[in-house]
Amino acid sequence: MSEAPHGAPIKTPGQLIAAVIAGFAVPIAIIVLLAYYVDNTTRTGAGTDELSAQQVAARIAPVAQVNVRDANAPRVYKTGEQVFQAVCSACHASGAAGAPKFGNSGDWAPRIAQGFDTLWKTALSGKGAMPPRGGTSPDDYSDYEIGLAVAYMANHAGANFQDPPKPAPGAANAASGAAAAAPASGASATDANAAQAQAAAAAIAAIPQASSAPAAGGGAQSADASQAGKALYQQVCQACHAAGVLGAPKFGNKADWAPRLKDPMDTVYNYALHGKGQMPPKGGSTASDADVKAAVDYMVSAAK
Ligand code: HEC
Ligand code: HEC
Repeated sequence: MSEAPHGAPIKTPGQLIAAVIAGFAVPIAIIVLLAYYVDNTTRTGAGTDELSAQQVAARIAPVAQVNVRDANAPRVYKTGEQVFQAVCSACHASGAAGAPKFGNSGDWAPRIAQGFDTLWKTALSGKGAMPPRGGTSPDDYSDYEIGLAVAYMANHAGANFQDPPKPAPGAANAASGAAAAAPASGASATDANAAQAQAAAAAIAAIPQASSAPAAGGGAQSADASQAGKALYQQVCQACHAAGVLGAPKFGNKADWAPRLKDPMDTVYNYALHGKGQMPPKGGSTASDADVKAAVDYMVSAAK
């Protein structure tokens, strides 16, 4: 029989200590849980970050912002990737409005075949649903930066373009015409491939003049048709035909060419001149008919 008074639940010093600790711990635990319950800023529904600080900031961000810049500060150029992310990706990431899709070599190959300088100029002046400079102003992005973005996109879709030459420090923001003056001067040709690609781009740009005024550049063109054919192949056709891009018959591959060469040569020339399936007319170039035929001959002779 216990001598303790009836009804008193605490009978030993140990029980007393336990009761005191519980007396503190339970309310504290409740307070902590309540505080956590009230402060819900960091918790979101499973599978969503809608309430995260960045997401909220993005939703309530002002539509327009005024950017005050020091006109005398040295200009810090964005990289091609940064310009692409900020501007061009709006259309080019998804292929919106018929834009050639980022990383899609099928979309880009015929455009890449036009050469870097042409693409650069097109990006500056606009084309169809593509707004000039992607809709930016020369104050936002210089010609040079737009050129970097062009090279960035094209190089992610199979091209091997060199970045445009960086404007000299202190030079006024390059005027739009600068794109035309920019080509092969490429001061730092570190990579032989890139230099070759740039030379090809410059050569493609020169083709229209060459065919109307044979004095320009390759004056010997028509004199030596096979040279012209080889040159045009290297400038234009190899963009697709070297590796078989888009299903093009591969240069020097007999099996690819044999079925096509069952057609009379006139038919084969016609395909090259006027296009066939994914093959753009004249490979997307503005070369003369004679040069295109010479390029066909050059390719055909390599596949016999
Ligand atoms: C509003 C949508 C939009 C934005 C933004 C945009 N583009 Fe385009 N872009 C297009 C469309 C559409 C085409 C296809 C035009 C055509 O072939 O008719 C295109 C085509 C191009 C081409 C290929 C031109 C050619 O000759 O085939 C280049 C190069 C290009 N864009 C560069 C850029 C660069 C660089 C930027 C960012 C500074 C940019 N674009 C931003 C819609 C856009
Ligand atoms: C944009 C990529 C591309 C470029 C650049 C290109 N081709 Fe093609 N070419 C193709 C494709 C794809 C085919 C296969 C077409 C098919 O069979 O549907 C092809 C097929 C051909 C054929 C075979 C046609 C046949 O079936 O008889 C010839 C010849 C040809 N190209 C010549 C040229 C010449 C010459 C150039 C340069 C002036 C050139 N190509 C540039 C993509 C290209």
